[in-house]
Amino acid sequence: MTKTKPWFWGDIAYQIYIRSFYDSNGDGVGDLRGIIDKLDYLSNTLGVTAIWLCPFYDSPMVDFGYDVSDYESVDPLFGDLDDFKELLKQAHTSGIKVIVDLIANHTSDKHQWFIESKSSKDNPKRNWYIWHSSEDGNPPNDWLSAFGGSAWEYDSHTNQFYLHSFSKQQPDLNWNNPEVKDAIKNVMKFWLDIGVDGFRADAVYWLSKDGWFRDDPRNPHFHDKNSSGEYDALIHSHSRLGPHLYEHLQDMTAVLEDYPGSFLVVEASPIAAIPGKNQDIPEYLNLYRYVDSKLCAPFNFELIRLPWDARFYKSFIDNFQSKLHPDYLPIYTFGNHDNPRLASRIGEEAIRVAAMLLLTLPGLPFIYYGEEIGMKDVQIPRGEQKDPSRFGGNGRDAARTPLQWNKSNNAGFSSQTPWLPVDKDYEKYNIETQLAKPDSLLNLYRALTMLRRQSDALRHGNYLSLEINHSSVYGFIRQTKAEKIAIILNFSSKKHSVESKGSKGKIIFSTYLDKENLLYKDLTELRPNEGIVINLS
Ligand code: NOJ
Repeated sequence: MTKTKPWFWGDIAYQIYIRSFYDSNGDGVGDLRGIIDKLDYLSNTLGVTAIWLCPFYDSPMVDFGYDVSDYESVDPLFGDLDDFKELLKQAHTSGIKVIVDLIANHTSDKHQWFIESKSSKDNPKRNWYIWHSSEDGNPPNDWLSAFGGSAWEYDSHTNQFYLHSFSKQQPDLNWNNPEVKDAIKNVMKFWLDIGVDGFRADAVYWLSKDGWFRDDPRNPHFHDKNSSGEYDALIHSHSRLGPHLYEHLQDMTAVLEDYPGSFLVVEASPIAAIPGKNQDIPEYLNLYRYVDSKLCAPFNFELIRLPWDARFYKSFIDNFQSKLHPDYLPIYTFGNHDNPRLASRIGEEAIRVAAMLLLTLPGLPFIYYGEEIGMKDVQIPRGEQKDPSRFGGNGRDAARTPLQWNKSNNAGFSSQTPWLPVDKDYEKYNIETQLAKPDSLLNLYRALTMLRRQSDALRHGNYLSLEINHSSVYGFIRQTKAEKIAIILNFSSKKHSVESKGSKGKIIFSTYLDKENLLYKDLTELRPNEGIVINLS
């Protein structure tokens, strides 16, 4: 008998960028009622069991909701609190857990806290944000905003600078002030009391900064000033990852103790080696060590960064899994709203294998909306882009376009012109068309979610590395006492044969959706870009 694990072990999560999911009221922007309308798609058609909702709180929308002006509200663009409660109720009835975004590092400059903080040096909320004077009129240090330029903004009213690690409309909260920590803990309680199942914690690396506000060192590997913007010119070792980071995260996580079954997923991307830091393991693995790992786990973003090569995947995943204590939950994902889409990164031929990989790995996998129909980046001319950041050199709009539901106008997303353009190929890549085609990508995702939901080994089993003597083929085993399953993935567009090395079993699944119950022994030929699942029990 497998030990009973909480829901987040083995479930399948789906990230909803609400603005682009489904527009129920014809204003060109997705909303909460739109998600309610499509719950049946999520739970019965696609078969996911949890959703992460990007921010829907009151916001001036400078960073599309990551600039919150009231944490305990719903922005009218998305609906109201009753809509949220209805969504939660119906999601739970459909067997779907709901995770909401927690933006704890910064607020909007229109948040009442900041308005007060800015009003005078004596205001009781002055110390809720990070204010500094400068002697020569220049910013207090060299720290940079992830969105470009200095991280300091001068305020002539009080003759001081405030810190903003992202846009200047997103002032950083001062986590050294216990009142701030309490305020954010109260925000968590507010949503947990309403019934959410957890949070995705945004931008946590910035919660703690160097206490002396020392300059960030220059990045010795940065040469080309024009390549990726000046942000990469520095190593951000003082402006983030400060000494109190894990303490702050543990304090946030402790709130969950009173809400059984709740969970915190942390945005913690791998970062380049920092001189003087012991980085034989990625920084984010420390999270498991220093924060209650039964209630909190980091995303790992390597699958977003790695080139599509079986050797890199094998090496990273084998290594990562070997470092995880059996109680540490791995969280794999191939995409999110800040990165180019999977299909554009690795190519259309490879995405079926990627889908099988994601849904057969241990832990809690996250699918980014639209991935299930192979949505691609939509190139939007610079002048028409809405994203304020310079991420990726070209902003992030390309991966945030409306979900393509069918062949009708605006891909069935909205009756009005959507806030971002719909992909011109939507007549081919849409949910309705793919549902009607038995071997479509969407039907592959559906079959894989079903497979995962029905297999104890895939949800809860151990991960064991498999040695396959082929550089384009990567495989592993998932195993419980009663069930043993092998997953073998051909990353190349050529066919390859693999030896069973004495193992016998049945091939129960292929990414081509046509192989079932074929015997697996001796030599098995994998077709180009084919992944198979073998039952070895
Ligand atoms: C990470 C979020 O994913 C991104 O969209 C946002 O712009 C920054 N954090 C700032 O909140």
